[in-house]
Amino acid sequence: MSDKFKNSTLEAWSGRFSEPVNELVKRYTASVGFDYKLAEYDIQGSIAHAEMMSAQQIISDEELQGIKEGLSQIKTEIQSGDFKWSVDYEDVHLNIEYRLTELIGDAGKKLHTARSRNDQVATDMRLYVRDQIDLAIKLIYQFQTNLLNLADLHTRTVMPGLTHLQVAQPITFAHHLMAYFEMTKRDVERLKDLNKRVNQLPLGSGALAGTTFSIDRLHVAKALGFNGVCENSLDAVSDRDFAIEYCMVAALLMTHLSRLSEELILWMSPQFNFIEIADRFCTGSSMMPQKKNPDVPELVRGKTGRVNGHVVALLTLMKGQPLAYNKDNQEDKEPLFDTAQTVHDTLVVFADMLTGISVNKDSMYAATTKGFATATDMADHLVRKGLPFRGAHEVVAKAVKSASQKKCDISDLSIKELKLICPLIDEKMISLLSPEKALESRNHIGGTGSSAVKAAISNGRKWINS
Ligand code: ARG
Repeated sequence: MSDKFKNSTLEAWSGRFSEPVNELVKRYTASVGFDYKLAEYDIQGSIAHAEMMSAQQIISDEELQGIKEGLSQIKTEIQSGDFKWSVDYEDVHLNIEYRLTELIGDAGKKLHTARSRNDQVATDMRLYVRDQIDLAIKLIYQFQTNLLNLADLHTRTVMPGLTHLQVAQPITFAHHLMAYFEMTKRDVERLKDLNKRVNQLPLGSGALAGTTFSIDRLHVAKALGFNGVCENSLDAVSDRDFAIEYCMVAALLMTHLSRLSEELILWMSPQFNFIEIADRFCTGSSMMPQKKNPDVPELVRGKTGRVNGHVVALLTLMKGQPLAYNKDNQEDKEPLFDTAQTVHDTLVVFADMLTGISVNKDSMYAATTKGFATATDMADHLVRKGLPFRGAHEVVAKAVKSASQKKCDISDLSIKELKLICPLIDEKMISLLSPEKALESRNHIGGTGSSAVKAAISNGRKWINS
């Protein structure tokens, strides 16, 4: 713990105790070393709570004024780095409350009327997650915009589509990129949907059973921009499903980015030689002078592991807890904060990296012409000539076998030989087997042809702006 978390005396709850807390226990139980990140939300929540209490005549107007001025000064102190955090005051909530009382006297002690740290921390956490949802959505839009810009340049760039990492059928590079647009589109939808469950106010639930004061929860909810209030006080203070769900959604997003990373790494290898990633996103080797390593995508892939780990950590944290609040819940913060930071940094760097990708069209094209990528198209032509698909499949498999043995393409086999395999084959059919023809015959919705992909890109742009 850094020096800024200095020691002092007297815990908020020391009245009931006859000896001071052991120093190690104090540090072990304190969360201020990480939950100071909630300070801004804590102050926001406190102001709304105080305003409601004054409106309900639980505190006076002067007391409200004092609380607001004190909190505003505390906010400035925190922002400027002058605020003295102390482990003696355990967490962000008590640190702020103590400083408030130091600044404004007895009115500061009234702020905690009709409130517990249990509903307070749950509120702070929801405000934090709500902001992280908005931020992630904004950053995904930027990532997607850069993805669409790259796709726009490659609606006619031919590449081999793979299944089982084997050449399967020709596709356009734009179509491949657009698959990731669809994945991240669903990530945005998941974040928006999650927001409905996050954006409910816990304050007013007290420690677990509500409060005897005549509070107005809807007033507080409105002031803080919540859509509604948590309907059960026990649930409100104890469940962290909204934080778990955020991490789950983040894990899926990271998984999508990790898959794209894996592809970028493969494509950049000399064996594929499909793309270059700008030098500013790569590093060299201290030993092998020839190396240019795709560190950024490798780290995205690696960091997906830690986000997945945070999901498991939070689920495990929650699974054995009896109702209502338990101190276990203090452990929800670091996995959540780290997930949010990882998502943020990953999206920013990834979006930027997309602007630094260049494509070796010739290598992509050459790879498409190896591996009989248009064999399915040939089978389709035979079906149009009357063969049932299974029969056509067998005919083309024989042609592939013969061409493989001769180490050439089907189009290099003589028409005589091909007619021996199946008399329905003719020269025109063979001339239709180019990758370009294969692409242009797939212009239905969701297809890889250039006009289908152009439509997908333009729909994508509309979706972002909708
Ligand atoms: N620091 C605590 C947390 O993060 C705040 C709530 C403490 N409540 C309590 N009853 N000890 O969960």
